[in-house]
Amino acid sequence: MKRPLLVVVLCLTGAFLLSSCTMAPRRDPVSRPWAVLGAFHQEVALLQGMLTEAKRQEIEGIEFITGRIGDTPVVLAWTGVGKVNAAMTTTLLLEHFRPTRVIFIGIAGGVDPNLEPGDIVIAKQTAYHDMGTLSAGGIDYGGVKSRMTGEPNPVFFPADPGLLEAAQRAAQKTAFDLVKQQTGQRRVKVVAGTVVTGDVFVASKKKGVELAQELGASAVEMEGAAVAQLCYQRGVGCLVLRSISDKADQSAIMDKQLFYAMAAKNSASLVVKIIQAVTRGPNVE
Ligand code: ADE
Repeated sequence: MKRPLLVVVLCLTGAFLLSSCTMAPRRDPVSRPWAVLGAFHQEVALLQGMLTEAKRQEIEGIEFITGRIGDTPVVLAWTGVGKVNAAMTTTLLLEHFRPTRVIFIGIAGGVDPNLEPGDIVIAKQTAYHDMGTLSAGGIDYGGVKSRMTGEPNPVFFPADPGLLEAAQRAAQKTAFDLVKQQTGQRRVKVVAGTVVTGDVFVASKKKGVELAQELGASAVEMEGAAVAQLCYQRGVGCLVLRSISDKADQSAIMDKQLFYAMAAKNSASLVVKIIQAVTRGPNVE
């Protein structure tokens, strides 16, 4: 080889080796996981029990469990309650695991009067109900700008269209636990709707009606839009799935205890079906 050519080849090889050593490890897109988050341990524990090759790791004091559901790599974590807890875990998740998509599962208060404990809301979109300008006339809802791009965030964060469609399809094939009621048992109703997020547990019928009227909310919870905002800003597909545990009214705290376990189980069952539907294709049971 002529000497100038040899020098160029050696330089390029050196630069390549140097950059491979100094750059953050890149994950093969094929092995990048799906992420499933919930606010409480119980919401992800059921899924944890279904993982194969499960491994636990702790980052900044937060536990992440990696493993597989079927052939699909999955990472699970519970965030704790509220927007800041959810944002912190989601940030660590996105940085360390580079998931291809994020699904948030858990319970919510139903503010659509047609929803009862046990029913499921697949969020077509999520919004904060405590962000904007509060004046005597009420809240003028508005998103803040992304710190990364300076672009204003929307009031409503849309669900990833592929995940939304897969969830609606999967819901029809999921064997949900029946909901016990005074007069026997009934089947779970699944709707696509708007889920709103704020840093309060809503136990006020008046507030629930306001959320339904002003934001078109079906359900209220305390984490979904924070996770959706981070995913939106980072271009990661996101879906929020919520099982109704109460009606966000004066009985909400008691109802939540009563229906929590069944609601957590049903949202875990739906996630598994979604993963199977997307990774095996629409025609597989
Ligand atoms: N999560 C479950 N029920 C809720 C409620 N009523 N308000 C906020 N978050 C909830």
